[in-house]
Amino acid sequence: MPAQRATTILPTPRAVWEADHRVILRLDTLFQPDSAPSQIGRGGAKIMRMKLYAISDLHVAHATNRDQLLRLRPHPEDWLILAGDVGERPEQLACVLETLNTRFARLIWVPGNHELWTVDRDPAAPRGEAKYRQMVGVARDHGVLTPEDDYPLWTGPGGPCVITPLFLLYDYSFRPDDVAEADVAAWAAEERAACADEIYLSPEPHESRAAWCRARLAVTEARLSALPPDLPTVLVNHFPLRRDLVRIPRIPRFAPWCGTRATEDWHRRFNAHVVVSGHLHVRRTDWRDGVRFEEVSLGSPRQWDHARGVEAYLREILPG
Ligand SMILES: [Fe+2]
Ligand SMILES: [Fe+2]
Repeated sequence: MPAQRATTILPTPRAVWEADHRVILRLDTLFQPDSAPSQIGRGGAKIMRMKLYAISDLHVAHATNRDQLLRLRPHPEDWLILAGDVGERPEQLACVLETLNTRFARLIWVPGNHELWTVDRDPAAPRGEAKYRQMVGVARDHGVLTPEDDYPLWTGPGGPCVITPLFLLYDYSFRPDDVAEADVAAWAAEERAACADEIYLSPEPHESRAAWCRARLAVTEARLSALPPDLPTVLVNHFPLRRDLVRIPRIPRFAPWCGTRATEDWHRRFNAHVVVSGHLHVRRTDWRDGVRFEEVSLGSPRQWDHARGVEAYLREILPG
């Protein structure tokens, strides 16, 4: 783990509020237009250079993606959000976090559907919630923040913002209104769409993936509601928060596996400055209600230009 870990962790909403005020004072000092560099000092100059980046869907089961990741240059002052689908196996996640911990000052990870897959044929292999907990454990072992940890406060340029790693899953509600939930798989199959989650992503101990999603929505909503309402957020979730952001023309009937309508207005409700997601493997920047939505997928090897390197696919979230 790198030595520089100057993260402000927020243990309680009260602490958020206090930290917020301290940060605003410090940033006001740093960004006075006529401040001479000598007045800012070494620590301040570092803060001014800091960037918050994001990338998702590294899919390191593909050797090309894995090898290219090793070529990332060091970003000793920057933070990186990994927005899910790093890989299916704990050892893949561990390997990536080990590599990226040497390149970035702070890592923040949320699970994608692939991290939740059980691909091990051992009947005792963790499934569903247990697999999620296993991957959270891997991240924590590497000092990486997860949806189970206190939300960090970004105090660099573009801040202060609370970064909220979320795990919300999907509930099939991105299907058309005239398709019943029970008919989703058959409806998708009519146009040869399917999702391997139906085989590999167990909802245990929940009765279904939709039920797991509802449980995640409830706990997450409570945590976000406890934040000070005027403190901006960077909401991070593997799945897009809005149905109108799901534009996958090659497989439009994959949409039911892409999120939940329950989060349609979360960018407004929870004062989002930026919303980060992946999963679609369709990189985009969209705007809704003045909020920036970033889809930050790398994707499978045929979906990106290897000559540009992974570096070119790091999306600057803040200052942005
Ligand atoms: Fe993916
Ligand atoms: Fe995904």
